[in-house]
Amino acid sequence: MLILGIETSCDETGLALLDSEAGLLAHALHSQVDMHVAYGGVVPELASRDHIRRVLPLLDAVLADAGRTLADVDAIAVTTGPGLAGALLVGASIGHALGYALGKPVLDVHHLEGHLLSPLLAEPAPAFPFVALLVSGGHTQLLAVRDWGRYELLGETLDDAAGEAIDKGARQLGLGFPGGPALQRLAEEGDSGTFDFPVAMTRDPGLDFSFSGLKTAMVYLCRELGEPGVERNRADLAAGYQAAIVDQLVSKLSRALDREEWPAVALGGGVAANGPLRQAVSELCAERGIRLKLVPLPLCTDNAAMIAAASAHTQPFEWPDYLGFDAFATGERQ
Ligand code: KG4
Ligand code: ZN
Repeated sequence: MLILGIETSCDETGLALLDSEAGLLAHALHSQVDMHVAYGGVVPELASRDHIRRVLPLLDAVLADAGRTLADVDAIAVTTGPGLAGALLVGASIGHALGYALGKPVLDVHHLEGHLLSPLLAEPAPAFPFVALLVSGGHTQLLAVRDWGRYELLGETLDDAAGEAIDKGARQLGLGFPGGPALQRLAEEGDSGTFDFPVAMTRDPGLDFSFSGLKTAMVYLCRELGEPGVERNRADLAAGYQAAIVDQLVSKLSRALDREEWPAVALGGGVAANGPLRQAVSELCAERGIRLKLVPLPLCTDNAAMIAAASAHTQPFEWPDYLGFDAFATGERQ
């Protein structure tokens, strides 16, 4: 079965072809990051307009790359949320149109389920069950993934997502958007011990996260240091801030592993591209003799391969039933 995945939930246009036996045949991505950088964040209307321009050329690219034609596609999987409503509607309408034209079923996929199951794209894929740490610009969650569709939320952020905190801290240091990769590069030149950033929630016995205190600590510290002081200490500030985020993520994951025996851990979402986080989680799993599934780097941020992978257990809808899908901006499906 050949599944065409379409992802347009935010500022990345993704297309992918996944064969249920042979695995991922091709995936293509266009990032709009350069377009939004001047605004310091994603401008929803610009994002939607750009998705419209990109989807069909990217579709051609994945078909050519995989040596397939549209006639080979058996089903179309499309992200219906959460995300920017206008951006999601572009992918959903292309998915509907292709389903209609090809006479093939359409599947609606939850964006977070895509990230959650993206470790299945690793070679070899992890077997169920596993515990997943899902860290993106919009979400920070620890989940028990017991089987297809059987997920249990163990803990989540009470305020900002880890990626959001990273982007805001990076902005304080005058780095562009998104801040994660730039913050990581700057931190490599710094000393994480120079400044005392709070690692939040360590005394809290639960598995929830919080990053707002850390963000505020950065604002105050920058104010105290003044512009020349910040300039002189940028690398140390970046290193300390990044380390506080990584420490919190790893200490909560470690606590989840204390509570229940898990054969495997999976790390996914855009922030899972972070080198020090990958390193710290690898060490934690090695210490405990637990298998670790790192999502391949290009598939950590938003992409359509994970949407096609997550659709494997989703119910296919035939014409005209898939017209009932609606894009949803936040939270749960309506
Ligand atoms: O999953 P994603 O592409 O989009 C959302 O669904 O949010 O995640 C984007 C987030 C951004 O906050 C970005 O700064 C962060 O992932 N990110 C990183 C790195 N690469 C991307 N954070 C830390 N280190 C990185 N290398
Ligand atoms: Zn995402």
